Amino acid sequence: TDKKDILALIEKAETTHELTKDEIVALLIDTEYEAEFFAAADRVRRMYVGDEVHLRGLIEFSNTCKQNCLYCGLRRDNKKVNRYRLGPETILDFATKAKSYGYRTVVLQSGEDEWFDVAAMVDIIKKIKELGLAITLSVGEKPREVYQAYRDAGADRYLLRIETTDKALYEKLDPGMSWDNRVKCLQDIKELGFELGTGSLVGIPGQTIESLADDVLFFKSMDADMIGVGPFIPNPDTPLAKEAGGTFELSTKVMAMTRLLLPDINIPATTAMESLNPQGRVLALQRGANVVMPNVTEGEYRQLYLLYPGKICINDTPAHCRSCITGKIQGIGRKVAETHGFRVKRA
Ligand code: SAM
Ligand code: SF4
Ligand code: FES
Repeated sequence: TDKKDILALIEKAETTHELTKDEIVALLIDTEYEAEFFAAADRVRRMYVGDEVHLRGLIEFSNTCKQNCLYCGLRRDNKKVNRYRLGPETILDFATKAKSYGYRTVVLQSGEDEWFDVAAMVDIIKKIKELGLAITLSVGEKPREVYQAYRDAGADRYLLRIETTDKALYEKLDPGMSWDNRVKCLQDIKELGFELGTGSLVGIPGQTIESLADDVLFFKSMDADMIGVGPFIPNPDTPLAKEAGGTFELSTKVMAMTRLLLPDINIPATTAMESLNPQGRVLALQRGANVVMPNVTEGEYRQLYLLYPGKICINDTPAHCRSCITGKIQGIGRKVAETHGFRVKRA
């Protein structure tokens, strides 16, 4: 592809929000016009979702997991992890505090932990809903009836990354799990009326640029409402300890491509991006992102929810993170939203 073609592709993405797989690959591998590419994603972000940044308070309520994903520090075979579970009262307390910081959404995230059965989760969801908060769940694969029960209890959104659309690679990295079942879960989540969040890990061993292009096309085909993309960061206590990991640049490129092709969705500047680059979230907000998920987990639990080394904010308090992230957002001329921040479909 020559220079004029790259600029023409950026313009096509910005104006039509449609690209072929080959065109996506050409833009992902180009290094010469990255600035123009990111600027186009930033314009699309501004035109479709505006300058407001939505903050979602993240509660990491259990680091116990029955799965064994090769990349993740919480995998069940990692015996070095001190496992914890927050009780329902503590979860509710953190949610109440999240509200006091002005957050309009809490994200309940955990490993796949059966200790929280359907009745327990339904109870927690109902109580948090009474606070007037929107709820995002990120608790893994469940049967449709379980998703239905969470939805009936009032949960608004669900995050379940596909991680990679390369089925063989997925099943290699997530032993015992089925890629088809993960897609089935995403379909169930969408059909049940949740806002659907998915996304990918960028830079997992064996992943190609072509497969990243497939990921973005998959997000579009699923009509995802939120996409979280982040670099894979190798964890020394996992089988992928010695792998190279993803880069900040490539993960923001995949994110910017997602903004260009799914212009009206919510896209977080992810924690893993900032863990690789001290300006990572601000840069991501200027390359297509419009959401940040500050941690509202308190005390020692933050250190124990260690997916990868170098995770930011593990020694900071929720109050500190609140003022830190507000300062960063205002520092680039953006403002913190005061609404619940649901997707407003415009595409
Ligand atoms: N257990 C639930 C699940 O897997 O969907 C939710 C929690 S899981 C820790 C959330 C996300 O963390 C995963 O979807 C994965 O993309 C990400 N993650 C895990 N290990 C990681 C690593 N080493 N580097 C970057 N992200 C990682
Ligand atoms: Fe468990 Fe999620 Fe980590 Fe996989 S990514 S080991 S399901 S917490
Ligand atoms: Fe936690 Fe900046 S957001 S220290």
